Amino acid sequence: MVPDIFLNIKSHKKAIFSVFCAVVFILILGIIFLLSGSKNATPSNGVLSERCTQENPPYLNQNLSVQERVNDLMDKMTEWEKIGQMALIEKNSIHDLSEITKYNLGALLSGGGAGPKQETPLAWLQMVNSFQSAAKSTCLKIPLLYGIDAIHGHANVLGATVFPHAIGLGASHDADLVKRVASATAQEMAATGIYWSFSPNLDVAQDIRWGKTYETFGSDTANVEKLGAAYLQGTQNSLESYFNVLATAKHFIGGGSMEYGTARNINFKVEEGNIPLDEKALRQMHLVPFQKAITSGAQAVMVGTATWNGKMNTSNSYLLTDILKKELGFSGFVVSDWYGVYEVAASRYDSLVSSINAGVDMVMTPFEYKDFMSNMQKALANGDISKERLDDAVRRILTVKFKTGLFDRPAVEEEGVSIIGSNDHRRLAREAVRKSQVLLKNENSVLPLSKSLNKIIVAGSAADNLGRQAGGWTTEWQGIDGNQGIVGTTVLQAIKNIVFENTDVAYNISGDFSVENGSADVGIVVVGEKPYAEGWGDDANPSITAEDLEAIKKVKTKSKKLLVVIISGRPLDIKKYINEWDGVVAAWLPGSEGEGITDVLFGDYRFRGQLPVEWPL
Ligand code: BGC
Ligand code: BGC
Repeated sequence: MVPDIFLNIKSHKKAIFSVFCAVVFILILGIIFLLSGSKNATPSNGVLSERCTQENPPYLNQNLSVQERVNDLMDKMTEWEKIGQMALIEKNSIHDLSEITKYNLGALLSGGGAGPKQETPLAWLQMVNSFQSAAKSTCLKIPLLYGIDAIHGHANVLGATVFPHAIGLGASHDADLVKRVASATAQEMAATGIYWSFSPNLDVAQDIRWGKTYETFGSDTANVEKLGAAYLQGTQNSLESYFNVLATAKHFIGGGSMEYGTARNINFKVEEGNIPLDEKALRQMHLVPFQKAITSGAQAVMVGTATWNGKMNTSNSYLLTDILKKELGFSGFVVSDWYGVYEVAASRYDSLVSSINAGVDMVMTPFEYKDFMSNMQKALANGDISKERLDDAVRRILTVKFKTGLFDRPAVEEEGVSIIGSNDHRRLAREAVRKSQVLLKNENSVLPLSKSLNKIIVAGSAADNLGRQAGGWTTEWQGIDGNQGIVGTTVLQAIKNIVFENTDVAYNISGDFSVENGSADVGIVVVGEKPYAEGWGDDANPSITAEDLEAIKKVKTKSKKLLVVIISGRPLDIKKYINEWDGVVAAWLPGSEGEGITDVLFGDYRFRGQLPVEWPL
């Protein structure tokens, strides 16, 4: 018989063994749980798992296909990291570089005028590099996509070539020229380490009261289609393996037909307004340029903030998913516009959910990214946004990052910045200016001007003002009024440069000259709109200012012939005055190279520009 005590010990041992097994089991479960849980940890960098330390991971292998690289990278990513890839943040909301690392941010932008303290090319490059190195110190080292509105040259950068705004390029009707302009712009961007341009603008502008008219190639769908595709190809130039710079077709869709007086923002009249078209008209007028851009290689599309028959484009899944992604086969990513995803519904959460579900892949928050990240986490946890939608968005974004070469490019050399504002680019800009000049009136043989006249008097608010020549989106979002911060040649200087030594060129902005009436051979008044951008430029009646009209009157009295040059982003109302003038030239917003204007005024080249929008005369 086994004594009790032994039985007791035996059962004791059994008990101890069972407890031991249970503990081991729980421990194993715990470890498994922790390992899988670390994939969703927030933020992810606390756990340095194998996925971060693998040597030569497949996604960094340039010999693999983009798809293989994306697959490998996606497999390694946590949910938190995926959400970060969907964020596009204004760079001024980053107060410490570690925020980029901590939040695994995927994309940054410089909003209008947002640059380094000093705007020099080198300072820009160093700024962008510092953001990139923060991104590269994350677990998976995914480079940032850095975007900017280089919509008429890399015009936030001091010394950059400022090309004519799109409306002037629209007047050229010249696809080859537009392609070269886009390619030069892309080179200046890449020299500062920036590979993403928020251009071309494919809006087909139907109402010149809209402040964004000059950002467009005009009102003719076919012209916008042709020049938009040329701009896109010039920017991306994918003859080599990677895009030079990634282009963005914007703003999807129909913004050019927003109805005056319907703006959501009380400060605006047209911008953020409603598009009252039926689907057939929307497609015929506005879809065509996007269709063409997609077959020409567009990989980023920005959805605008207009509403179409009352529904915001940002949350319209018929437009974004059914038409853009499915019908047109767009394989790139859809990025929302400034605050776009927050204006759909009353709560930010609901707004975000409906925009992402409608097909927005990347969100230009632009500031409150922490809020964006947590709302996305919440939406995924609640099942309001599916994991498949998240993966689809991130896959699209990463694919484009690979196609843009971001993972493989060597660091940008500082010497490269010398291309910014180079003579070649300025020559090209000058060519673009002269090819965009439109001759609206030429009587009394005022044009071409002789270079050997005795006396020329020059007046007007835009005669000696690079800021007005350049318009909005130059140095500052709303542009600047004056000559600071832009390197270039004003119209006045261009006139002085082209005439013979003995020609006397006198200048007074208001037209006050102490010469005999009728004694100047010609009076040239260069009038202009004060720079503006977007909704702030919505204007019930774009017209010439009282000061400029006054200057015109005075100059007319003093001159044998009168020429008016109009520097503007759109047609101005001149019906009442044009009979009094001998010649009128529409110069649009020519940018830094004023000599392109004198090239045609003095007959070295003929006028070739044709109106890109109707000019009521
Ligand atoms: C404009 C876009 C621009 C974006 C970023 C928005 O307000 O509508 O055209 O790309 O800001 O600056
Ligand atoms: C930014 C622009 C942006 C605009 C939209 C500005 O503060 O600088 O980039 O387009 O806001 O309202």
